[in-house]
Amino acid sequence: MKIIEVKDYQHMSQKAAEYIIEKVLKHPSITLGLATGGTPTGTYRNLIEDHQKNGTSYQNVTTFNLDEYIGLAGTDINSYRYYMDDNFFNHIDIKKSNTFIPQGNIKNIEEECNRYEDLIMNHGGIDLQVLGIGSNGHIGFNEPGTSFQSKTHIVKLAPSTIEANARFFNRPEEVPTQAITMGISTIMKSKEILLLVSGESKRNAMYQLIHSELNENFPASVLKNHPCVTIIADEAAILDLKIPVTKK
Ligand code: GLP
Repeated sequence: MKIIEVKDYQHMSQKAAEYIIEKVLKHPSITLGLATGGTPTGTYRNLIEDHQKNGTSYQNVTTFNLDEYIGLAGTDINSYRYYMDDNFFNHIDIKKSNTFIPQGNIKNIEEECNRYEDLIMNHGGIDLQVLGIGSNGHIGFNEPGTSFQSKTHIVKLAPSTIEANARFFNRPEEVPTQAITMGISTIMKSKEILLLVSGESKRNAMYQLIHSELNENFPASVLKNHPCVTIIADEAAILDLKIPVTKK
C-alpha cells in the first residue's frame, strides 16, 4: 500500500481528483468504482471544476457505485443515486445510462444483488475503485465480520454506522437499517484501489489499517492483500501513526 500524506481535506480532495483525472485522460473508457459519504464530495467538486475548465470528458466512462440503502428510491434525497447525480453526474458529460448503482427500492433485493454483481463482472470489472473508510473499518457497507469472499449482498448496518450517517438525515430514525453493498471480493477484484481518509475521526481506523493483521473484524485490512492500493490521507488522520508516507 502506498500512502500519500497531504495537509488537509482540501488537499486530499485535490490530489484525489488529479489522480482520477490522469487515469481518465489516459483511458477515456475507464470503468470507475465510486463511493459516497462525506469524504469524496470535495473530490467530486474538483472533478467538476476540472471538467468545466479543462474539458476532461466522461462520455465514454462507466461507473459502478459501491452501495445503496434498501428502501430508498433514487429520487429520495438521501439515496446514493440522488447523491451521485447531485454531487457529480449532473455536472459532467457522463451518459447517465453508463452510471450504475444498486437499486434499493425493488421487491426482490436478492435478485438485485446477483444482477449487480453480474453486471460488474460482465462489463469486465472495475479499473479504479475509489473508497472511503468507516470509523469501524467498513468499506462500502461491508461491516465488521463480513466474509472476505463476499459478493454483492444485503447488509444490516452496524449501530455505529447508522449513528455516523444520521447526520445526513432529518432524524436518526430515518436512516435505513439495511443496504446493498458490493462485497469484499467484488471490491478486491478491482484492478486498482484509491482509498481516501480524512479527519481525526478516522485516525483509529487508519491506525488499525496499518498495524492490524488481516482480519474479517476489520474489513479494510483486506486491502493489504491487494497489489495496487494508494491511500491519500490527511495529517489529522495519520498524526503520530509512525508509518512510512510520501509527503505531498
Ligand atoms: C458510508 C459509506 C461508505 C463510506 C463510509 C465513510 O457509510 N457506505 O462507502 O466510505 O461510510 O463515510 P464518510 O466518508 O462520510 O466518513
